[in-house]
Amino acid sequence: MLVIVKEDYDAMSKEAAKIVADRIRRKPNLVLGLATGSTPLGLYKELIRMHKEEGLDFSKVVTFNLDEYIGLPPTHDQSYHYFMWENFFKHININPANVHIPQGMFGDLKISPYETDPKVEAYCQWYEEQIKKFGGIDLQILGIGANGHIAFNEPGSSLGSRTRIKTLTEKTRQDNSRFFKSIDEVPKYAITMGIGTIMEAKEVILLASGENKADAVKAAVEGPITAMCPASMLQMHRKAIIIVDKKAASKLSAEFVYYG
Ligand code: PGA
Repeated sequence: MLVIVKEDYDAMSKEAAKIVADRIRRKPNLVLGLATGSTPLGLYKELIRMHKEEGLDFSKVVTFNLDEYIGLPPTHDQSYHYFMWENFFKHININPANVHIPQGMFGDLKISPYETDPKVEAYCQWYEEQIKKFGGIDLQILGIGANGHIAFNEPGSSLGSRTRIKTLTEKTRQDNSRFFKSIDEVPKYAITMGIGTIMEAKEVILLASGENKADAVKAAVEGPITAMCPASMLQMHRKAIIIVDKKAASKLSAEFVYYG
């Protein structure tokens, strides 16, 4: 893993944008995996600036988002569909046909730990096949939860997991309740790429900012590889770049970090 520590959130976002832009310029039809949440907002803002001021061209870029809440329609202002269009896609020249975000609406769903609803299973397989059809994800952007999750792969997730429905932990629902009127409105389930799916991306960039991510970053970078910190699986990835600000890096003890 290449661990890059930047001064603050802004510098972290710009560093990530530089790498993404470089990969798009080298391969205009890049298959780009995207994340939601507060963390990548600065990255999207900088990529939008590069599009507007430097002509960064997204017309051939293909995107796959990591996850979506179950039960929120794409028009809901907390759905990840809405988030992506509002904060990124509508500001760049992406071809809407190249955008893939897991669907969160399946009608009535019986969610049981023992069996998967066949329509969900078929959809999850279809999503994985779409990724393969485009030759796999070239570069996957990731945030990290304070509990070490990547996408909605909560602690305890199988390290080989594929796209499926996950139950959100109380911690994640509490963390995300800041965007909803109350915690009762936060969905209990999400559809998410699995850790196995993420590990097949040719390159990954994980971003983390702020003190409340310091423990998760330490566990991911220096801890043992364990399902209890899904991000620690990135230690097994061939090309993982971890870009963090100083606060998120504050608990790292390793000397191999690069202060860019
Ligand atoms: P955040 O979420 O960027 O809003 O902190 C990250 C995550 O939960 O993966």
